[in-house]
Amino acid sequence: MKFTIAVLDGDGIGPEICAGAIQVLNAVGAKYGHQFTFEHYPIGGCAIDECGDPLPRATVEGCLAADSVLLGAVGGYKWDDMPVDKRPEKGLLRIRQAMGLYSNIRPAKLWKSLAKASPLRYELVKDGVEIIIVRELTGGIYFGERGSAEGADGEYAWDTEKYSVKEIERITRIACELAVKRSKKLVSVDKANVLQSSRLWRKTVHEYCARNYPQIEVKDMLVDNMAMQIVKNPAQFDVVVTSNMFGDILSDEAAQVTGSIGMLASSSLGDSKRGLYEPIHGSAPDIAGKDAANPIATILAAAMMLRDSFDLVREYAAIEIAVQKALDDGLRTADIAEKGMRTVSCSEMAQAIADRV
Ligand code: IPM
Ligand code: MG
Repeated sequence: MKFTIAVLDGDGIGPEICAGAIQVLNAVGAKYGHQFTFEHYPIGGCAIDECGDPLPRATVEGCLAADSVLLGAVGGYKWDDMPVDKRPEKGLLRIRQAMGLYSNIRPAKLWKSLAKASPLRYELVKDGVEIIIVRELTGGIYFGERGSAEGADGEYAWDTEKYSVKEIERITRIACELAVKRSKKLVSVDKANVLQSSRLWRKTVHEYCARNYPQIEVKDMLVDNMAMQIVKNPAQFDVVVTSNMFGDILSDEAAQVTGSIGMLASSSLGDSKRGLYEPIHGSAPDIAGKDAANPIATILAAAMMLRDSFDLVREYAAIEIAVQKALDDGLRTADIAEKGMRTVSCSEMAQAIADRV
């Protein structure tokens, strides 16, 4: 089969990790008889430098014309002082909206061979951890009305958390579809003891699940308690559904618990098969250009694309197994190496995984 993939390399280590993923995709293509065509478009800081806009029109058009999108990472110190509309992150927020990607799936998985890298005590993680955070991505306080004004006490500013029943239902459906294939347990996170929008969230999740997925057991958790439970007993969670901002915060926490943020991939999807796949980690400007990054998260993001956008389940598994083999063979980039272990570069790791495909 033939697929066109838009590649948004972005900033920092973005180009290096995307190159690694492309190398592995080409190995999959050669083995299973698929042809992948890669079209590169700028996003983030490099797009600001090139065209004065973190998300040029050609990038949006290229993404909408492609079968799916692979993203590296955006941002860097260089653009930290730019006005808010000209910041690299804005490119990411706008492409999510332009592609209608309302659901962000962030699996935080502890790889058994890396259990010692977790900052938690070994006994808390020894049986494995896999928390799948389903984050609403195009609503809530990220996109609500905001502003600032002068008042009697000087300047003030506001941002609005707003959710409609429709927005809550469609993200709940995505979470339920995952939960029925797994433990049939769903944790919904909110702040219903304080926020009106959370009370609507809670009521809608329950009504929607009772109507459409009665086999799923839904449990509510307040976000502050959730933050605590993730470090106290991460193994209790399976699928978790939450709002845009809570999901942003909790997914970083869950990722850190696995000790291997350089290994974690995420997918953003809407109502079509076209998605945006990216590593959970950022652009790591401190190691950019040094061939020292860990390409595995981006390689696994590419694998998720094969499975979830193209229905290539065998090919997905081939990449996952190749990554596991590379780890079992003792290959480590610096971020996941234990003391005294020899480390490999970003390109060596990508090559090793491509060879094992
Ligand atoms: C993420 C990031 C983004 C977000 C930033 C870069 C805008 O933190 O993907 O989690 O807050 O969504
Ligand atoms: Mg974040």
